[in-house]
Amino acid sequence: MQVLKRVRPIGPVLAAVVLAFGLIVAPAGAQEGPSGSNPTAQSVNEQQLLQELNKIQGRITIPDAKAATLEQPRGQDFRSFHEGALPWIGGVAVLGMLLVLALFYFIRGRIRTRSQEAGVKVVRFNALERLTHWVTATAFIVLAITGLNFVFGKRLLMPLIGPDAFSAWSQWAKYAHDFFSWAFMLGILVMAVLWVWDNLPDRYDGHWLRVGGGFFDTSNRTHPPAARFNAGQKLIFWSVIIGGIALSVSGLFMLFPFAYADVNGMQLAQTIHAVVGVLMVAVIIAHIYIGTFGMEGAYQAMGSGTVDLNWAKEHHSVWVEKQGAKTEPSQPAAPPTPAE
Ligand code: HEM
Repeated sequence: MQVLKRVRPIGPVLAAVVLAFGLIVAPAGAQEGPSGSNPTAQSVNEQQLLQELNKIQGRITIPDAKAATLEQPRGQDFRSFHEGALPWIGGVAVLGMLLVLALFYFIRGRIRTRSQEAGVKVVRFNALERLTHWVTATAFIVLAITGLNFVFGKRLLMPLIGPDAFSAWSQWAKYAHDFFSWAFMLGILVMAVLWVWDNLPDRYDGHWLRVGGGFFDTSNRTHPPAARFNAGQKLIFWSVIIGGIALSVSGLFMLFPFAYADVNGMQLAQTIHAVVGVLMVAVIIAHIYIGTFGMEGAYQAMGSGTVDLNWAKEHHSVWVEKQGAKTEPSQPAAPPTPAE
């Protein structure tokens, strides 16, 4: 008992020392984050938090969960890409393609059919194929014009027509972009189903590519063999399908904002959409050129659906051999005139 009496006065002192030690040591040890930062300590560094989390979020009570994001530094990269690099990529792709085509036209001229018309028509695209092509093409042209307005409108159009007219046009352009996108997506899907087999690589593609399809032979003598689609057309087809899928998926993210992605995902979708979009506009400009001014007789294939037999032999000789049976006379023989 005597010993106990002697010890008792030391007890409170010991407890106070242990408590004080605990208070000094505990906060650092107990609440440390995975990277060693402590979000509740006064010394917490904004930069450390951003590295860990990509964005700083608070706690909110309103239903819109997006409002909880207080800082998202990737937004600055996104903005500088959108305002700086993107117009450059788009401008170089589209103007560059126009320049290349203009040069090609002046050097090579229109690609003419060498032989005379045979007067026999070959069915090249049936009604469903043409409908699909023109629905997709119309939708794409609307999407291209309204899409380029997102990238260049504020800089190029607004100074010309003024902010009020630009705002009204841009609002309608945005609606058109959203609604025509459905026709484009459907068109891409049907096009893929209709033409995928004829666009698989074959043994004629390598040679066709090596001689550049004969496009650069100014004497117009080189006509490499090709099946229904030549290697150049296959490149267009696969650009349209792969580019179309990328545009469709990233576009769906934007049609339903924040439904499938947070703010970082939304910015990534928009970046992919914009870059693929401007590149595809450049590719399609080349396609439209060759399907109209660039090559004699090409437009009829998609316009009326038939081509002259000699045109088909020059551009798709292997296909003509296989199609042999499907030819029809262009001028049906006049019915015999009844005797008077
Ligand atoms: C006014 C615009 C367009 C014109 C004048 C045009 C013209 C043509 C022509 C003439 C063909 C048939 C070529 C042949 O006989 O083999 C064709 C095929 C094709 N078109 Fe278009 N087209 C246009 C827009 C588009 C657009 C916007 C797309 C896609 C987004 C597209 C995708 C295709 C594809 C995938 C083919 C089959 C493969 C090929 O020939 O490259 N076209 N087009």
